[in-house]
Amino acid sequence: MSNAMLGGQFTFPGTSLTVGRVGYGAMQLAGPGVFGPPKDPDGAVAVLRAAVAAGVNHIDTSDFYGPHVTNQIIRKALHPYPAGLVIVTKLGAIRPADGSWQPAISPDDLTSAVHDNLRNLGLEALDIANYRVMGAGHGVEEGSIAEQVTALAGLQRKGLIRHIGVSNATAAQVAEAQTITPIVCVQNNYNLAHRDDDALIVDLARQGIAYVPFFPLGGFTPLQSSTLSSVADRLGATPMQVALAWLLHRSPNMLLIPGTSSVAHLRENLAAGALTLSAETLTELDGIAAEAVHVAH
Ligand SMILES: NC(=O)c1ccc[n+]([C@@H]2O[C@H](COP(=O)([O-])OP(=O)(O)OC[C@H]3O[C@@H](n4cnc5c(N)ncnc54)[C@H](OP(=O)(O)O)[C@@H]3O)[C@@H](O)[C@H]2O)c1
Repeated sequence: MSNAMLGGQFTFPGTSLTVGRVGYGAMQLAGPGVFGPPKDPDGAVAVLRAAVAAGVNHIDTSDFYGPHVTNQIIRKALHPYPAGLVIVTKLGAIRPADGSWQPAISPDDLTSAVHDNLRNLGLEALDIANYRVMGAGHGVEEGSIAEQVTALAGLQRKGLIRHIGVSNATAAQVAEAQTITPIVCVQNNYNLAHRDDDALIVDLARQGIAYVPFFPLGGFTPLQSSTLSSVADRLGATPMQVALAWLLHRSPNMLLIPGTSSVAHLRENLAAGALTLSAETLTELDGIAAEAVHVAH
């Protein structure tokens, strides 16, 4: 069995989509600032092919990475897609020529975004589309998302989207979306040091809904902690592997999409699916968030 499967499998609720819990996030395959082409396009193709060859069957992307670049690289590397590969995308933003991230959330904007994703990925329907709430950048902000989720539900009825999720969403926004259509996954900012969603994760686990942390390794600010390093040394693992293994232990509905532009890092991240952490180690790692809050204040 491949490393990707060692973290176990998960079936999105009410779907026939089953994925390994260790997947791959494609954002790092675009150019600097997630804008424009990568410095090493062949390397980007190699990372995707290595991921699928190792058993990864859950890839996270968006047409606003690049824009279009990441989806086009996925298509070049993997199309025609192997059976069982689940590609999850996000809608809700565009990237003007200055590289900024601007909300694009009218029903017409969302319809165009679905067609952009379909064209650039070479698909007839999107497996899962997350409505990415722009909120406060990488932080959430309350406010109704009913109009956008209703628009996605309409596109789902037309057969362009199979299943719907939300991203960068508050618990209230998730609940609101669920009054409109079944929600199969929530993709929010969460890692060892950033644990605002602890209660939401428990609630989603109770409902069998996937929780997919973005920035699982800290994103643009990689996780750094003496506790994490000492646990990693003790286990003969790397700090990033321990951070990912902690997420897998945190809750059975946790699906990983660590991002990397390197085949070596990809292999390291997939191997985290085989790392078992004891109850004592988990308690020790749980202390990292408290340290991070202490430092921030
Ligand atoms: N919904 C949203 O709003 C949202 C926001 C951000 C991201 N995402 C999704 O979530 C995925 C994950 O987030 P992310 O890629 O931003 O952050 P991340 O997975 O937390 O971290 C990625 C960073 O860690 C480095 N890295 C990866 N593996 C490593 C390893 N084994 N050792 C050392 N460094 C390593 C990468 O650099 P190298 O390339 O050098 O490995 C990159 O700089 C994205 O790819 C994207 O699909 C979603």
